[in-house]
Amino acid sequence: MNAFFSGPLLALETSCDETAAAVLVGSEIKSSVVASQIELHGKWGGVVPEAAARAHVEALLPTMDTALADSGIGLEAIEAVAVTNRPGLIGALSVGVSAAKALAFRRNLPLIGVHHIEGHVCSPLAVDSALEPPSLALIVSGGHTELVRVEAWGKYVVLGETLDDAAGEAFDKGARVLGLGYPGGVAVQAAAVGGDPLRYALPQSATDRPTNFSFSGLKTAVARLVEREGPKLNAADAAASLQHAIVEVLATKTVAAAEAESLRTIVVAGGVSANLALRTRVAELGLRSGVRVIVPPLPLCTDNAAMIGLAGSLRLARGERSGFDLDVLSSEPL
Ligand code: KG4
Ligand code: ZN
Repeated sequence: MNAFFSGPLLALETSCDETAAAVLVGSEIKSSVVASQIELHGKWGGVVPEAAARAHVEALLPTMDTALADSGIGLEAIEAVAVTNRPGLIGALSVGVSAAKALAFRRNLPLIGVHHIEGHVCSPLAVDSALEPPSLALIVSGGHTELVRVEAWGKYVVLGETLDDAAGEAFDKGARVLGLGYPGGVAVQAAAVGGDPLRYALPQSATDRPTNFSFSGLKTAVARLVEREGPKLNAADAAASLQHAIVEVLATKTVAAAEAESLRTIVVAGGVSANLALRTRVAELGLRSGVRVIVPPLPLCTDNAAMIGLAGSLRLARGERSGFDLDVLSSEPL
């Protein structure tokens, strides 16, 4: 049985472009609030680190207040603080970590620093708090594409990763070439509705190992397609074909890895797990090979603090604590 920190816990996440706060009691998410910076960074077509940090400073306290109000649990009742401290943008991470330290210091509360990707790995606990390792996690976000063997909570073996672009990046870059909006994943999914995924052949790059991924050739291929077709290009078919190329590689490699590792549960998490085609395809292939597939609810796919709370809660329940010297790290393996 999974053990969670029993008292009310406040979780903060500011690693990239979402300012997020959540309140949990045990595995139960009492509130989860996300203030998105999409509009701010949309102008530039990508995240501007300095602007992100400043926006976190402005949004953090109101976001936290809303999470506390929504939960019906006051700040004075909070018994522990969990915060993302790695990996991410240093300036952005520092905002959440400083706030978490101040809150914990003032009332001498236990503090726990959480690895952002561990948060994504733990997000399906929101659907099934009894979900137990071992399992295979496919982590697909804007910065990460990893196949992880979850041996136990807190014990992860990375089986494979992308050799170049992350899956989310492939969506984002492909969307840019197709003239769709930012962030690309949502835009591609919307543009692909009704499109023919087999209309344009796009590469599903081969890699050295079956558990690794490569997406960098895709952007070039889409650019060449746009050039070749010119105004004749069918936008819906192009978006559907791009989505298909990414989804097929992710889904087939993941299910094959689960089979190779004799794992009976697959977890898909990270921003790209919000993609309907991916969710459907992994579920389909999983069903075919008798593997259970579990994905977080849509609001917990993209960055949020509830997942950081779940990961932090498991660690706190195991007696782990971070000191007030908790550092922020721009990159660190899971
Ligand atoms: O996990 P996340 O919110 O932030 C990071 O930690 O990177 O992931 C963001 C990524 C972006 O690349 C975005 O385009 C992608 O997730 N994404 C999607 C969808 N929603 C978000 N990709 C495909 N389909 C979606 N529906
Ligand atoms: Zn993320």
